[in-house]
Amino acid sequence: MTKYKIAVVPGDGIGPEVVASGVEVLKAVAGICDFELEFTELLAGGCSIDKNGVPLTDETLEACKNSDAVLLGAVGGPKWDNIPNNLRPEKALLNLRKGLNLYSNLRPALLYEPLADACPVKNVKSMDILIVRELTGGMYFGDRGRFQSEDKLVEGTVKGLSAYDTECYSTAEIRRIVKEGFRYAMGRNKKLTVVDKANVLESSRLWREVVNEEASNYPEVAVDFLYIDNATMQLISRPQSFDVIVTSNMFGDILSDEAGEITGSIGMLPSASLGVPGTPGMYEPVHGSAPDIAGKGIANPLATILSCAMLLKWSLNEVHASDLIENAVLKVLELGYRSKDIAGKDDDKIVGTNEMTRLVLDELNKVGK
Ligand code: IPM
Ligand code: MG
Repeated sequence: MTKYKIAVVPGDGIGPEVVASGVEVLKAVAGICDFELEFTELLAGGCSIDKNGVPLTDETLEACKNSDAVLLGAVGGPKWDNIPNNLRPEKALLNLRKGLNLYSNLRPALLYEPLADACPVKNVKSMDILIVRELTGGMYFGDRGRFQSEDKLVEGTVKGLSAYDTECYSTAEIRRIVKEGFRYAMGRNKKLTVVDKANVLESSRLWREVVNEEASNYPEVAVDFLYIDNATMQLISRPQSFDVIVTSNMFGDILSDEAGEITGSIGMLPSASLGVPGTPGMYEPVHGSAPDIAGKGIANPLATILSCAMLLKWSLNEVHASDLIENAVLKVLELGYRSKDIAGKDDDKIVGTNEMTRLVLDELNKVGK
C-alpha cells in the first residue's frame, strides 16, 4: 500500500482545532481509497517561541523538507505581538515558504452555490477564481531596514528615523510564476489577469515585459492587465468575470483576502503553496489564527478540510480522494449546515467545528461504503 509522510504544523489560535479536523478527514479518506498516511506533528509559530525561543527550529524545517506534504493551521496571536520582527510567529511561515522554495501560491476563491446568499456582492450567483500569488519574492523578502536621516520636510531639517522595504523581482522569478499562471489558465477558462502597479513601480513594468514575452507561448490565453487599485474595485464589481489572476506576493496577499470575503467567508478558502515538482508542498487555510474565537469550538474547519483536498491532489496525486472530500463538503453545505461565519438564513443549521467535521466524515463514509 502506498504510504505518504505528512508533516502537521497546527500552529496557534484556531490552528490546532482546524488542523485536527483536517487530519481526521485525511485519515478517513485514506481508509476509503486504500493508502496510508504517516503524520508527524511539529511546532511552528508562537507555540515554538514559547517552547524553543524561536518561531521555527531547523528540526521542524528539516522534518517538513523530508515529508511528502505539509499541513499547516495558522500562526500568530496578540501574545507575541510585541517581539522583534525576526522573532515573530509569522516568521515561521515565511521561513517555511522560503526554506521549502514554495514560490507558487494557489488560492482558489470559489463561491459555492448553497452559499450564494453569503456573498456580500449583489446579484453574484457564481464566482470561480484562481489567484496565483508569487510567494518567495518581492517586498516580503526584499532588503529592509531602518536608518537615521535628515528630515527635509520639517522646517529646520531634523534628524529622524526612517524605514524601508524593497520590492525586487528578477526576470527568472517573474517568469516561473507567470508560466504557472498561463498553465493554470490553459486548464481552465483561458483568461489570465495580471495585477500590478505598472503606472508607478519599475518592478511591475518588468512583470509586464515578461508576461508579454510569455504570452506568445500561450496564444489561446486572453491576457489583461489591471493596476492593483483598479483590480480591488473590479473584483468586487464583477467577480464572476475573472478566471486566473497572477500577481506579486504583496498584491496577492491583499487580493486573496478580498476574494475570500466575496465567497462569503475567508473561512472557506484553502491554499496550496508549491515549489518545483517532486518537492513537498504546503497546505493551509487562508484565514489566520483568529485568536478571538480560539478554543471556543466554533471555527470553520472547511478551509482546512479543503486544503487537505488540495494536498491530496497536488502533492500526493490522489485525485479521487481529493474529489471525495470536495464533494462531501458541498453536500454538507447543500444540507444547510453552516458554521457561524457563513450562516445567514433563518433556516441555516449552525454547527461548531467538531460537528461540521463529523458531517463531512459522515458524507465521506456514505460514498466509501
Ligand atoms: C497570508 C498571511 C501571511 C502573509 C502572514 C500571516 C505573514 O496574511 O498567508 O496571507 O502575509 O502571507
Ligand atoms: Mg494574507
